[in-house]
Amino acid sequence: MNAISTQMTAQTVNNDNQAAFFSVSDVHAYYGESYIVQGVSLDVAHGEILALLGRNGAGKTSTLRAIARLDDPALQKGEIWLDGQPVHAMKSFEAARAGIQLVPEDRRIIQGLTVEENLALAQVAPGAGWDLDRIYGHFPRLAERRKQEGTTLSGGEQQMLAIARALARDIKLLLLDEPYEGLAPVIVQEIERILHEIKALGITTVIVEQNAVAALKLADKAVILDTGEVAFAGTAKDVLDNEELRQEYLAI
Ligand SMILES: Nc1ncnc2c1ncn2[C@@H]1O[C@H](COP(=O)(O)OP(=O)(O)OP(=O)(O)O)[C@@H](O)[C@H]1O
Ligand SMILES: [Mg+2]
Repeated sequence: MNAISTQMTAQTVNNDNQAAFFSVSDVHAYYGESYIVQGVSLDVAHGEILALLGRNGAGKTSTLRAIARLDDPALQKGEIWLDGQPVHAMKSFEAARAGIQLVPEDRRIIQGLTVEENLALAQVAPGAGWDLDRIYGHFPRLAERRKQEGTTLSGGEQQMLAIARALARDIKLLLLDEPYEGLAPVIVQEIERILHEIKALGITTVIVEQNAVAALKLADKAVILDTGEVAFAGTAKDVLDNEELRQEYLAI
């Protein structure tokens, strides 16, 4: 148990977000002395998709990293609950084992391994996540390239592999950091199709995306961050309908 977990008492479990499948409440996180995530709260029902939006440097990636319990930024205060489990008390490997799968911006495809080997490595516990047939059914491009070295895939294909790898694990919460970044519109469309399929399967997801319109088309609800704080929380439609909000925080 780390310092954070020992501060958590039975009473603090009883917060307003108790009923949510996934909830973040009043999370504060630091890179060294830099106070970056400044009291973020959000909640997501089972099977919902939440778009986490905001300008460059607003703290979106940092919030995802804090949720996945990576060492940086360090969580100093707040609670994170997933399906009744206290994620704030976990280390990153425990959060992964509890079903939190972060697909980072840089995709982290393992060098020297084929597509299939990358996927096989993700299936640490046999039968826990999607099997290869299921993955290839949703990702036909990966099926065609199963023997190709993962790092030689195009950017879009690497993004697909990174998402597929998350699904190959026992997943309860998918965290996507800029899945469309740097990709041509035709590839963005293909990844959008896959994300809509994932949505139809009811996988609870938080998506961070500069392409706010694409994210809002997919999402049920949205949270806009500004300098590490929640500037807005509502439905995806609320954001799309609110020109002032879009202009102020999203430049769309
Ligand atoms: N390792 C780090 N050490 C110190 N500060 C950091 C570190 N990583 C990020 N920051 C700072 O934290 C703030 C939030 O960064 P973060 O990457 O979370 O923003 P973001 O919303 O994901 O931005 P972008 O849209 O550009 O990806 C920024 O001011 C950034 O400079
Ligand atoms: Mg970021």
